[in-house]
Amino acid sequence: MCLLKLSIMKKIMLQTEGMEISNREQLINQISVAFNLQFGNEPDNITLTPGRINIIGEHTDYNDGLAMPAAIDRWICTAVCRSNSASSTIYSLNYNESAVITPHAPGKFQDIWKQLASVSIHVLITEFGIKEGANMTVGGNIPIGCGLSSSSAFIISITQAFCKLFSIQMEDLQLAHVCQKIENRALGTAGGLLDQYGIILSKKNHFMMIDFQDNSIEYLPLSLNGCSWLVVNSGINRELSESEYIYRVKECRDGLEILKSRFNITGFRDIDKNMLLELESAHKISHKRLRHLLDENNRVKEMKVQLKKGNKKRIGKILQESHESLRSLYHVSCEEIDYIVQLSESFDGWYGGRIIGGGFGGCSLHLIADNMIEKYREYIRKGFGKEHGIKPDILEVQFPGGLSRTNDKC
Ligand code: GLA
Repeated sequence: MCLLKLSIMKKIMLQTEGMEISNREQLINQISVAFNLQFGNEPDNITLTPGRINIIGEHTDYNDGLAMPAAIDRWICTAVCRSNSASSTIYSLNYNESAVITPHAPGKFQDIWKQLASVSIHVLITEFGIKEGANMTVGGNIPIGCGLSSSSAFIISITQAFCKLFSIQMEDLQLAHVCQKIENRALGTAGGLLDQYGIILSKKNHFMMIDFQDNSIEYLPLSLNGCSWLVVNSGINRELSESEYIYRVKECRDGLEILKSRFNITGFRDIDKNMLLELESAHKISHKRLRHLLDENNRVKEMKVQLKKGNKKRIGKILQESHESLRSLYHVSCEEIDYIVQLSESFDGWYGGRIIGGGFGGCSLHLIADNMIEKYREYIRKGFGKEHGIKPDILEVQFPGGLSRTNDKC
């Protein structure tokens, strides 16, 4: 009976399209019920953590660049109580599986969600001297592993739940940095702070322009009338993303080191286009990566201007230019997403779009005229389905603001 209920809830939560998805309140309720079924008592607190999109500024965060993320209305929800033992048990509603995490050095888990949970709990108990474990139920409606920061949201969600449970005080920025450390340690990557800042610090109906040189943030109101942001989930798995991500970080750093030895510069932001000529023949890869970086930073600056003006056509063009650069200079796109963008180009009412997140599959972001959304859904599903045999999920996203610290226990 319990298992049946859980599998029905899991099905409900995994639907991510249109109005069928769980809204915020439903999700909190589902996690609360699942917690009760799993552990036989009420949770002490529940946290809700959003995913994010990034309007522009891809693969710039770890290079002291600029980006423009916003938290979206898809969440990871965690319910928690003390375990009355040194170990923690975490149950995932999406996977309908549990993991037991002992307080000793984290073991290696094959499943990524278990690995993320294990490293999160281990870092928290070590850094804050916690002697007791927690029982947790986690679930959400952020499509998993496809560029909407489900992993970062998962880590932030369980970290925040754990901190509340043991009264650990963390400022937003500290939380962002701790969660970045957990993610990089758990996955062996070298990710920047785009996801954590976007998820934690977003404001309702605003984009944030982040300058990762000094981590400063400017909030820009969303003022685009008559059109919406759609996320198309290609369903293509990003298998390459982690190892290739590390290469991209290295290729940029290698380029910077060469330029530092030839010019009087100290960091990425001192590089200008003329300096890149030094790399063009002997260091082609670094040349391409850094050209993307310079152009993408300029696109973020221009996007800010065009968002203020509400110039949808130009905004769309900037998205397309970014996609082309991610495809041909940064090499993080894939055939299927190139096809979605190419197909969209001949659709009336599509302003522009591009691959988002780490790349190699996953999602793309599109700006579409409101009165054409339904037609666009049909058009993409049909066209992409015919070519690649997959009917992509198409999500309309809203911007409810960042991490909520107000939905304490229930
Ligand atoms: C991933 C990383 C981020 C960022 C993006 C690319 O999502 O976690 O830090 O580098 O890729 O912009």
